[in-house]
Amino acid sequence: MQPKVYVTREVPDAGLGMVLKGTDAEVWEGELPVPREVLLEKVQDIEGLYCLLTDKIDEELLDAAPKLRVVSNYAVGYNNIDVDACTARGIMVGNTPGVLTDTTADFAFTLLMAAARRVVEAADYVREGKWKTWGPKLLLGFDVYGATLGIAGFGRIGQAMARRARGFDMRVLYYDPATSGDPDLAESVDLDTLLAESDFLSIHVPLTDETHHMFGAAELAKMKSTAVLINTARGPVVDPDALYDALNAGEIAVAALDVTDPEPLPADHKLIGLPNCIVMPHIASAGVATRNKMAVIAAENLLAGLEGNHLPHCVNPEAYATRRQA
Ligand code: DGY
Repeated sequence: MQPKVYVTREVPDAGLGMVLKGTDAEVWEGELPVPREVLLEKVQDIEGLYCLLTDKIDEELLDAAPKLRVVSNYAVGYNNIDVDACTARGIMVGNTPGVLTDTTADFAFTLLMAAARRVVEAADYVREGKWKTWGPKLLLGFDVYGATLGIAGFGRIGQAMARRARGFDMRVLYYDPATSGDPDLAESVDLDTLLAESDFLSIHVPLTDETHHMFGAAELAKMKSTAVLINTARGPVVDPDALYDALNAGEIAVAALDVTDPEPLPADHKLIGLPNCIVMPHIASAGVATRNKMAVIAAENLLAGLEGNHLPHCVNPEAYATRRQA
């Protein structure tokens, strides 16, 4: 008999097909996340869960899933999962690192360029019929080449961002107490220096208790009034009220956010109303090929765990020794 699995959204066929072939899977077919009460009911007799960053995998859910052996997240980030609680129950947790690094860095750099050169504002200007002539002062932005890029979090995506910046002749600084990166790629600095010297500050830290609201009023006040803040990591790393105040008061010039707090950001949220804030719907990894690869890796993690093997990409390998058996 094949192991029972629940898939919380329709993911690309490349991965979904593997799951449907190798397991007895049920898929939530709605466009919005599976309602919590439905998920709590569906997990009661499953051994594997293929889930998304929009699903909260906490103690309550784990308690409702006594046979659960593998949680496979269709994302590299896994702040939606209580990993310690999974480990304590012998449940293996997988994620999808690597395959979305360059796609996400491409998008972070897209936001940097769009914010610097006012691309979204300019497109709106044309669409709204405001374009009357070439203007010497029309929609002036910031030069990117030669500017200083500060990178908070120098993991895979932060380093990929640095490589892109080098191609634009930028000076690149990074802050990451946990990583010593290639000094030819970027210069390691403390957080205050990063804040004070960056023309562009791109955030690439994971969301943890330590990084929650890492960029609040005090940090934003240390930035240049001409600075651009780019966040493609996780929304709660930036305090949204402090960011609004800083943008509104001109303490920093522009923010470009692919991730927000809360997510989704309500259409009437004050940040969306600011002309100097670009908000995107969390699409940094949304390349067709990338999402296919993520779907496959998440499927491989799930199937390996269900077979009792090591997950190719496991965030809690220490759980392997005490893993739940079929
Ligand atoms: C992730 O994988 O963590 C991204 O936020 C979505 O691809």
